[in-house]
Amino acid sequence: MKSVQSFLDAIPMPAVFVGPQMRIVGANDRARVLNANAGDPRPFVLVFRQPSLGTSLEACFSTGAPQKAIYHHTDGPHEIRYEVTLRRVQGGEIDGCLLCFNDTTHLKQADQMRRDFVANVSHELRTPLTAILGFIETLQGPARGDIKAQDRFLSTMAAEAGRMNRLVGDLLSLSRVEEEARVRPTTIVDLDQLIRSVVRNLEPVAEEVGGSLFFDAPITPPKLPGDSDQLLQVFTNLIENALKYGGEGTEVTIRMSTSPRDHVLRVPVLRIRVEDTGPGIAASHIPRLTERFYRIDSHRSRAMGGTGLGLAIVKHILNRHRGRLSVESTVGEGSVFTVILPLE
Ligand SMILES: Nc1ncnc2c1ncn2[C@@H]1O[C@H](COP(=O)(O)OP(=O)(O)OP(=O)(O)O)[C@@H](O)[C@H]1O
Ligand SMILES: [Mg+2]
Repeated sequence: MKSVQSFLDAIPMPAVFVGPQMRIVGANDRARVLNANAGDPRPFVLVFRQPSLGTSLEACFSTGAPQKAIYHHTDGPHEIRYEVTLRRVQGGEIDGCLLCFNDTTHLKQADQMRRDFVANVSHELRTPLTAILGFIETLQGPARGDIKAQDRFLSTMAAEAGRMNRLVGDLLSLSRVEEEARVRPTTIVDLDQLIRSVVRNLEPVAEEVGGSLFFDAPITPPKLPGDSDQLLQVFTNLIENALKYGGEGTEVTIRMSTSPRDHVLRVPVLRIRVEDTGPGIAASHIPRLTERFYRIDSHRSRAMGGTGLGLAIVKHILNRHRGRLSVESTVGEGSVFTVILPLE
């Protein structure tokens, strides 16, 4: 049936038309990608072997009412989830049931991510909040009148409140970066100056952890379009991480270099390496470091005031700059976080 076929071809998702005898009448190309035999004039249940589809098809024919079914398709390592709508179509020479396969995998994933995110944020906020509530109770009860204890508790409460404040600040910053993801920065930044100021700001942290900080700049530092506040955030987090997680006596070196072609970005790039001589990161953690709230040792990171959002923000900022972050590490030797920014 030619008219059915041209309708099927016009549908922007996999679609199959099945006649009243439950035999396939036709399918579009997208459906043939899903199942090579989708358009074969054979009984539907022999071609699409998931029983739920067959049952829904029968119901569609017997009741005439629209039906819905879920169809799982495995494409190599990917599991794709389709929401299939089945509708009885009748009129003129056309008689049958139309099945449209709507890929809802990304919706499901986005939904899961949103739920995880809310759960994570609530958990991160609850920990300091519980501590603060506990201290308030103590101050109102057992520690009433004990000036020394009050001082101690108040400073702990201030630290916990500070942590909540940082978390909210990081969340806002993340959402701002995401909002601007498609707006390319246009101002020209002097990265040499910018990194020097980050290094200056972090000197006290280096001193505190007993580490050292060294900036190895090239002879002619290139200037490029960028958002200086955001790039400041990128280098602050990377250098701060190197100092904080590198541990006592870590040597942090920042090196700048250019390369005529990056094998991923395929353009000339500027590379800024932040190297540390810390404990290193096991390979299994590396791909997950830029996930929100991902920390290797969450206890240690929290103790240092970390929110686990730093690298997620770094990644978004670099995406906005059409750059990327690369992480290499050898356990026992140290880590190298490289910021790669396009030069054209
Ligand atoms: N140079 C490094 N050496 C070892 N581990 C690191 C290094 N940099 C980051 N990490 C690990 O990656 C995790 C995530 O880092 P990220 O900057 O995203 O969060 P954070 O430092 O915990 O919090 P925030 O940056 O928001 O204060 C850290 O908790 C730490 O476990
Ligand atoms: Mg950090």
